[in-house]
Amino acid sequence: MGAAEVISKTENVSGDAGKAPLIDIRNLRITFPSGGAEPKTVLKGINLSVQPGEIVGLVGESGAGKTTLARSILGVPPAPGRIAAGEVHFEGRQILSLSEAELRRLRGRRLSVVVPNPRAELNPLRKVGDQIASMAKIHLNVSRKEARRMALQMLRDVQIPDPERRMDAYPHELSGGMAQRVVIAMALICNPAFVISDDATSGLDVTVQAQILALLAKLAAEHGSAMLFITRDVGITAHFCDRIAVLFSGEIVEIAPREALFLEPAHPYTLMLLAAFSHSPKLRDSWSVPETARRRELAAGCQYADRCPIAQAVCRTHRPPFAEVSPGHFARCHFPVRHA
Ligand SMILES: Nc1ncnc2c1ncn2[C@@H]1O[C@H](COP(=O)(O)OP(=O)(O)OP(=O)(O)O)[C@@H](O)[C@H]1O
Ligand code: SF4
Ligand SMILES: [Mg+2]
Repeated sequence: MGAAEVISKTENVSGDAGKAPLIDIRNLRITFPSGGAEPKTVLKGINLSVQPGEIVGLVGESGAGKTTLARSILGVPPAPGRIAAGEVHFEGRQILSLSEAELRRLRGRRLSVVVPNPRAELNPLRKVGDQIASMAKIHLNVSRKEARRMALQMLRDVQIPDPERRMDAYPHELSGGMAQRVVIAMALICNPAFVISDDATSGLDVTVQAQILALLAKLAAEHGSAMLFITRDVGITAHFCDRIAVLFSGEIVEIAPREALFLEPAHPYTLMLLAAFSHSPKLRDSWSVPETARRRELAAGCQYADRCPIAQAVCRTHRPPFAEVSPGHFARCHFPVRHA
């Protein structure tokens, strides 16, 4: 039986089906006004769960909908985007039905986000030590002295040289890499249960990127925080992520534990991403198109059909099922790639 025939019982895939997820995104649909009668659907029914402490990578090309998903999880899709359908459950609450005040209390305390361009996140007129400390003071209700002690410790944790002195620095006195470390310190000071890193290091020097991402993953692990790690670079996810989801045109087309995704990618789009990332001959040589696929006419229903080298007629007429190709490994494809 082809994997495409094994239709998953649920699309709400989770790292550990037995445990209650920390965050559970259900059938999330986000639309943007398009100028025409029909709005443009940018997220087309996202289902994704993250377990406590788990690091899930979200990979996709520019415009796939990564930032729209990150912002929607925080309850604020990018304007003028609209939540057309779906739910986001976090620690027993449905985030999308919370009031603005409730969302503010949650953000920074239990849910944090790290975005690129740290300077835009920081107040240019306040010392960075005060900015980090105020996160603890607002959300944890600690004294000013305790908040400053915690802020200093965070500056040590994010490995900023000479942290005592940096407490009194202004953002413009820091390099881009250091400013990003300060933003990470702000994001983690309250020990959030869930951190979203949205392309957090793009724009930084490659070596600094690697150092900061390694630090972010290490700190998230030490704080016991789960993370959604968003990037355009599938290669980076190999270092940090327990599971990886591949987003294409507003749909998760594949999700798998890290090893399965890298060694046995099932969706042709993932394969293309990995081929672009790695020129491993083993990967190139180990996949084949199933017999049934070869016999049919190449061709919708599938978002990827126009770019897929093995597309067939059925691909343009029937939406592929999100099928479990191996335990915990799902792909949305009529003809998932087989590996020898
Ligand atoms: N303000 C807007 N108005 C209309 N459409 C928008 C708007 N912002 C985003 N979109 C649409 O949403 C899609 C997803 O955008 P999003 O910023 O989430 O992508 P992304 O995956 O984060 O890309 P990148 O890697 O470049 O950051 C875009 O292709 C675009 O069509
Ligand atoms: S469903 Fe068809 S077009 Fe889509 S990725 Fe699979 S083979 Fe390609
Ligand atoms: Mg983005």
